[in-house]
Amino acid sequence: MPTYSLASNEVPYGPLPGVAEIVAERLPDLNRYPDPASTALTLALSERLGVGADELSLGTGSVAVCQQITLAACSPGDEVVYAWRSFEAYPIVTTLAHARSVQVPLLPDARHDLPAMAAAVTDRTRVVFVCTPNNPTGPAVTEAELLDFLERVPDDVLVVVDEAYYEFGLDADGVPDLDGVAITRGRPNVMVLRTFSKAYGLAGMRVGYGVASPVVAAALRKCATPFGVSLPAQAAAIASLDQQDELRARVARVRAERARVMAAARSLGFDVPDSAANFYWVPLGHDAERFAHECKEHGVTVRAFPEEGVRITVGEAQAGDTVLEILRGYAPASSGDGGSAGGSMAASVE
Ligand SMILES: Cc1ncc(COP(=O)(O)O)c(C=O)c1O
Repeated sequence: MPTYSLASNEVPYGPLPGVAEIVAERLPDLNRYPDPASTALTLALSERLGVGADELSLGTGSVAVCQQITLAACSPGDEVVYAWRSFEAYPIVTTLAHARSVQVPLLPDARHDLPAMAAAVTDRTRVVFVCTPNNPTGPAVTEAELLDFLERVPDDVLVVVDEAYYEFGLDADGVPDLDGVAITRGRPNVMVLRTFSKAYGLAGMRVGYGVASPVVAAALRKCATPFGVSLPAQAAAIASLDQQDELRARVARVRAERARVMAAARSLGFDVPDSAANFYWVPLGHDAERFAHECKEHGVTVRAFPEEGVRITVGEAQAGDTVLEILRGYAPASSGDGGSAGGSMAASVE
């Protein structure tokens, strides 16, 4: 039985064309430390994003930049506001900085409650994380919602727009739903997080970055792990940036598969929130763990959040079909059989 991981929001395609070869070329140099400033990658990002090199801070994944943020911005007892449920690193990096988490519940449709988050800001608040699209539930905030939120937040609070899944919002012409980097322009208390781990297919390389005002970016770089981003990782990220056509093609594939599996899950009667990412959320409540266990027995790992729901990565169609077939057994009673979940499900689950 083949095994599939739909548990960590990776893409199933591997690195972009030519990237693995470039990594292989760097392997003989592994006795050397990498360029600590990641100069070439910083330049490549600065050109692609149209921001200054002094507005960037890199890390071993954007989770490392999350940690730079709380270390740089927070003193013991300060507050960090974020939606909940959201990315699980936020409470961890908050605690590591001896700060206090202020978790603002998501709306019933699994979206950020930005007015409530603005209201949760106090004079102890140093950082607000806005995760868009939200991991694990999927919805993105709109540009209008974000701009309205920014109006309400004091200038001395750092608002972090976490766009780990940004590329999945690009349409066929490469136009994003929301461009956090554009929103940072002229707003020195707003920054963006992005990563090479998701659409670029480099989760194993550990490269992410923040785009911030020069003052904030300099403070973040001071909190970075020295020599953190390895030589092969820097080379892989640079090579990946040159593959925008291929990136868009894979994003289109993920979006098409996402539409298929989400429609199938909804047709079974599940209240699946919108997703602008490469995963979707099924609110299975107390069945979440049992469902994940059953998926595992059929060779597919998904991510259960006990008593809440299950996050399922959009991956190989075969794996998606297996999950849908198992999901059928958990369909809300009111929906009955719920109709077809599509594709080759029946054949895929033995
Ligand atoms: C919302 C969000 N932000 C940041 C990250 C961090 O990713 P990485 O450290 O691989 O760049 C993830 C990873 O799952 C995520 O879901």
